Amino acid sequence: MDMTTTLIDHTFRKDVQRCFTEQTYAIPARWLYDRRGSELFEEITDLPEYYPTRTETNLLKANKAAFAKSIGPGRAIIEFGSGSSTKTPHLLNAIDPAAYVPIDISGDFLEHSASLLQKEFPELPILPVEADFMKRVELPEAVAALPKLGFFPGSTIGNMIARTSVDLLRFMRETLGEGAQLLIGFDRIKDPATLVAAYDDSAGVTAQFSLNLLHRINRELDGNIAVDQFRHVAVWSDIYARIEIYLEAQADVTLPIGGEQYHLAAGQKIHIENSHKYGIRDARLMLRAGGWTPVQEWSDEKDYFTLMLVEAHPYKHAP
Ligand code: AVJ
Repeated sequence: MDMTTTLIDHTFRKDVQRCFTEQTYAIPARWLYDRRGSELFEEITDLPEYYPTRTETNLLKANKAAFAKSIGPGRAIIEFGSGSSTKTPHLLNAIDPAAYVPIDISGDFLEHSASLLQKEFPELPILPVEADFMKRVELPEAVAALPKLGFFPGSTIGNMIARTSVDLLRFMRETLGEGAQLLIGFDRIKDPATLVAAYDDSAGVTAQFSLNLLHRINRELDGNIAVDQFRHVAVWSDIYARIEIYLEAQADVTLPIGGEQYHLAAGQKIHIENSHKYGIRDARLMLRAGGWTPVQEWSDEKDYFTLMLVEAHPYKHAP
């Protein structure tokens, strides 16, 4: 086992222990994305109920001329949490960039996606960076002098609570520098039935995605949890404007994990994910709080999803 694997294993174990020993009944959402979790998430993006990926991809395809005009050629595109980079080609085609820097925490995945993309764009310098984008990231020397465009699609920001989102936006501004632009996707507030269906699909793929967290505990932390004793639950919280995802114990259960035994009463829920939704003014205010000035917006005809282009203007003295 290499160094990074050991460290990840250690924080995963700590996070899972805390859930039960400190009775937080919460496990950070990042642990949903092991190899199996990432595969299941890819499946989610194709579900009829899961509108965000389709809607955002259509926005990227439909507004190429506007991106060319407002962003222009010659920028280095810095993608935060690039994963499989499936949406990137649409943007690369639209704006004729000088370089592409995908940032992801998972190194293997990153190299693989970058080499696939290099075949499609043989002339484009592609410079992958393996890093945690929740902090300031050191960009390759080769892009230091280029104007930057950050790219943060998928409403990934929705996974974070407001305070963390603002921290992230500020880190992105530090990483990209003054004068940079950022193209960022927001999932919009809409009718709760549509939202709940997107996170509790009829084929049960999202339920599998959630329950994979328990399988992962069994696999990686020497657990023996009876996964079939748990149910995936997705609820809309109006006050937080978010979908909350839980694993609910269906009976009194004992959870053996790495030599420890934890107990849950029937009906106890473990909070495993949030997916925040935004009004247009909520999104603008959050971006401004993070140091970004709104420039332009693109939404679909139902206002289900919005792409926002923002800029890092010099800070001015407010009156
Ligand atoms: C990857 C955070 C954008 O919140 O819609 C989808 C994750 N979880 N279905 C989202 C997710 C369950 C997704 N994000």
